[in-house]
Amino acid sequence: MEPDRLIVTIDGPGASGKSSTARRVARALGIPYVSSGMLYRAAAWVAIQEGIDWTDEDAVLAALARHRVELVPSMEGDRVYVDGEEVTARLHTSQVDRVVSPLARHPRVRAWVNRRLREIPPPFVVDGRDMGRAVFPEAPFKFFLWADPRVRAERRARERGEDLARVEAELRDRDRRDRAQTEPAPDAVVLDTSRLPLDEVVARVVGVVRARDP
Ligand code: DC
Repeated sequence: MEPDRLIVTIDGPGASGKSSTARRVARALGIPYVSSGMLYRAAAWVAIQEGIDWTDEDAVLAALARHRVELVPSMEGDRVYVDGEEVTARLHTSQVDRVVSPLARHPRVRAWVNRRLREIPPPFVVDGRDMGRAVFPEAPFKFFLWADPRVRAERRARERGEDLARVEAELRDRDRRDRAQTEPAPDAVVLDTSRLPLDEVVARVVGVVRARDP
């Protein structure tokens, strides 16, 4: 396949393992990894910095128009710059977690993110909620990772050293809020990762890509 057509989309709900999978698939294929969630997080960070009401879509868009947000993809993980200053390390706080989900429901904020994603030259692996269905319907390789909410909560609680019951409640809550934009593309390969170790998920994704694009 021509490198400029190679796009692998990996979608799924929170803590389904999509970012770990996407990062490792990108490394195995030797192409960059693009995290669409980082752009939503950057938009949330801008809204927080500006002290605006993030339920007000016009105010969010006006705030975004006042700043230059750049996503620099890489195999190791993306870097995000706002007005030339790197903010990557500040995007995974619980404050950003709280703001990002309601903010990501604004259609024009989604359009803002999607425009930035479409400017990135292939090849790349991209993860998110709606990459295969809404943003890159032409991508030749689409995957949707699913896992039982309890299993996802166990993974996340272990990762962050947090209380399982609280993590599970938050995850179910975020699932509910993200549901509208978390749909597999009709032609996506759906993998239930509840009982599959990460190595196996990565091997299956890479296997599908290499079978058609050796
Ligand atoms: O993947 P993540 O946890 O970094 O994503 C952060 C938030 O952004 C998540 O709560 C939902 C939203 N998001 C989205 O709506 N669509 C995407 N393609 C990616 C993320």
